Amino acid sequence: MTEKIIILDSGSQFTQLIGRRLRELNVYCEIYPYNKIPQIDENVKGVILSGSPCSVKDTNAPQINLEGIKGKMPLLGICYGAQYLAYKFGGEVANSNTREYGRAKLNVTAPDCPLLKGVAATSQVWMSHGDTIVRLPENAKIIASTQDVENAAYQIAGEETYAVQFHPEVFHTVEGSKILSNFALNICRCKGEWTPASFIETTIKELQEKVGDDQVILGLSGGVDSTVAAVLLHKAIGHNLTCIFVNNGLLRKNEYEDVMASYQDMGLNVIGADASKEFLGELAGITDPEGKRKIIGRLFVETFDKYAKTIQNARWLAQGTIYPDVIESAGIDGIASKIKSHHNVGGLPEKMNLKIVEPLRMLFKDEVRRVGRELGIKEELVGRHPFPGPSLAIRIIGDITEDKLRILREADDIYIRKMRAYNCSEMNFPSAADPRVKAKNLYEAVWQAGVILLPIKSVGVMGDERTYENPVALRAVVSTDAMTADWFHFPYDFLADVSNEIINKVKGINRVVYDISSKPPATIEWE
Ligand code: XMP
Repeated sequence: MTEKIIILDSGSQFTQLIGRRLRELNVYCEIYPYNKIPQIDENVKGVILSGSPCSVKDTNAPQINLEGIKGKMPLLGICYGAQYLAYKFGGEVANSNTREYGRAKLNVTAPDCPLLKGVAATSQVWMSHGDTIVRLPENAKIIASTQDVENAAYQIAGEETYAVQFHPEVFHTVEGSKILSNFALNICRCKGEWTPASFIETTIKELQEKVGDDQVILGLSGGVDSTVAAVLLHKAIGHNLTCIFVNNGLLRKNEYEDVMASYQDMGLNVIGADASKEFLGELAGITDPEGKRKIIGRLFVETFDKYAKTIQNARWLAQGTIYPDVIESAGIDGIASKIKSHHNVGGLPEKMNLKIVEPLRMLFKDEVRRVGRELGIKEELVGRHPFPGPSLAIRIIGDITEDKLRILREADDIYIRKMRAYNCSEMNFPSAADPRVKAKNLYEAVWQAGVILLPIKSVGVMGDERTYENPVALRAVVSTDAMTADWFHFPYDFLADVSNEIINKVKGINRVVYDISSKPPATIEWE
């Protein structure tokens, strides 16, 4: 069994980040709502309490039942977690007039404390709180302070209970990883052996036990998650897995053929379900984005169902659900997890009476990629940008026609190919610390990108002729989870090159613009 740390979420925006930091230390962890504490068995090596938007004094403040945890095993309170531990166990928390938000300088006052071993005597930390712990419980000892906050970190005597007012999980807390590593590896005594290879080994065994000799079907999309889920299942159950790849007629240039060929190279048993005519037929004349989504969702289910019915004795539906989907749908009120509608198979399990298997449900996106690489999946598939289920339908503003699809595909192909061709090591980025420097090429530096065809016309001139054609907008963002995103800073030379080639080569486009909106307030897609 896998040893783990449990993170109890009281609604902080940083909770997932705590999980990611632990996983980076090769420590397995699971996140639960504060009021849905799982059974604490011998695999649980420690517990972390996250931050929260609430004040401990609010009437609706999360109340965490720490019976069976505090004093019995390593416990770390972060921000709200630190205040909660102080407030509930004899200390005092007050609403201070000075909300502390941002960088602060931490001075370690107890360098021998196991939580702060090896941490620099002074270092930058990130604070984000309104309340302050004005008095610690009697058996607590200060282990670090900042200029404004004396009780910035403390330990409860005689227990392995620690608390920090700042956020060790955020990048701006310079010694944050060291502190989390001290907690997870030294205090909780986790071995740190949770790696992609160990995940693959245990997951394959679990899948074999769970599914046995049953037949499983899986909807492939060409994306990273469904591909990795398919390869894992294929390793576990071989030809008892049948994949269905639906061609909705809205994919990128050559995408259907290329992805089908890669899947076949990998030995996967894939049925190509070409329903492009049905999709384009039903979408004709539809301009409303949600209207497009509804039609696409319904047709996907119908197509998938039609092909799935040809598979004898199918008992399981496999899905590439990943951890952020699970946590998001669980919410801190602990509402039962549900399949995200954008997996586009909503309704299928009930309709087909299938049980669900989700081999990646405990992984973050970057871990799915690491597992994919470990499984030997080609970089072209593992490193792919996310792509929406409704595909190019939501990148053509207004109604969809074959001609608009042709124009968009050509422009998109030029944009994506050029991103791959621009080598980051040959570009003069302003500083070596620039995250773009680490990427192989611009495609890798960008999180997601695409071209949007706009439904307006503008005047241009080509040769001696006046043109009156459509513009396209280029979109490229950096993000970690698509919840927030910032526009990507392309070098001007690259933008000039892409614009030039699109306007010269794609008939129907005479202008290229670049979208410089962040999310929020904009979104990544235009529809
Ligand atoms: P937005 O535009 O909301 O997109 O910022 C966030 C992420 O979700 C993708 N997206 C979708 N994916 N079905 C999907 O499967 C959809 O209807 C859909 N709409 C947006 C988008 O590409 C981005 O990665």
